[in-house]
Amino acid sequence: MTAQDRINAYWTGRAPSYDEYQQRPDHLAVDQQAWSEVWKDALPPAPSDVLDVGTGSGQVAMVLAGLGHRVTGIDLAEGMLDRARQHAASMPNGPVIRRGDAVHPDFPSGSFDAVTSRYLMWTLREPEVAVANWVRLLRPGGTIAVVDSTWFPDGLENASENFTEHYDPQVQAVLPLATAQSIDQTVTVLETAGLTQVTVTPLTSIYELDRRFGVAPNHEHQMQFLVTGQR
Ligand SMILES: C[S@@+](CC[C@H](N)C(=O)[O-])C[C@H]1O[C@@H](n2cnc3c(N)ncnc32)[C@H](O)[C@@H]1O
Repeated sequence: MTAQDRINAYWTGRAPSYDEYQQRPDHLAVDQQAWSEVWKDALPPAPSDVLDVGTGSGQVAMVLAGLGHRVTGIDLAEGMLDRARQHAASMPNGPVIRRGDAVHPDFPSGSFDAVTSRYLMWTLREPEVAVANWVRLLRPGGTIAVVDSTWFPDGLENASENFTEHYDPQVQAVLPLATAQSIDQTVTVLETAGLTQVTVTPLTSIYELDRRFGVAPNHEHQMQFLVTGQR
């Protein structure tokens, strides 16, 4: 079993609870509104062609489709893909969901105006290779916009038991950003891929939302960042 197989198995097992948490009825509308504003500011005007890599249960892809973009979402975890497909089918012009590797997304060069990802960078093998491939998929002037945080600066050992069973030392060894000390490490990855105007924005609106509603089990309340760059 490769490290990526173990990552896929973790997220397939995690998909129901992950998705149900994101769909909490008391939270969903305000959550979607806040994230709509984040992505609206980060991306070219709708309708644009957007690829959401590591789309998971499709939350970002759905918000982007709701903004009027033509969205494709890819992931490798079958459990997540099932959830994402169910959500996508529930809306007209919903995202197209496909199985695909974020490191080597299989699309012709220049297919998209933007590539997005949320909470993927920390669990992405070969992030430099991946971002270089995302740049190739962009049309000139296109945007890469990723959201993440420094989730495990002290290592993954103190995370929940089920998590560390999958994210074992073999997996950790292939994830250079999993224990990032600073979001600047993601900035460096985007700059190394040749993107210009690389900008970091702390997502204070999401921080405030997390303060009001609380964070997911086994997570701490912490700042998330949007990192964008242009081709
Ligand atoms: C923390 S979840 C984030 C899901 C979603 N982006 C969100 O914001 O809710 C991380 C996702 O990345 C996916 N993933 C990890 N490595 C991947 C890869 N190489 N290619 C595609 N998806 C990947 C996992 O299967 C999982 O669905």
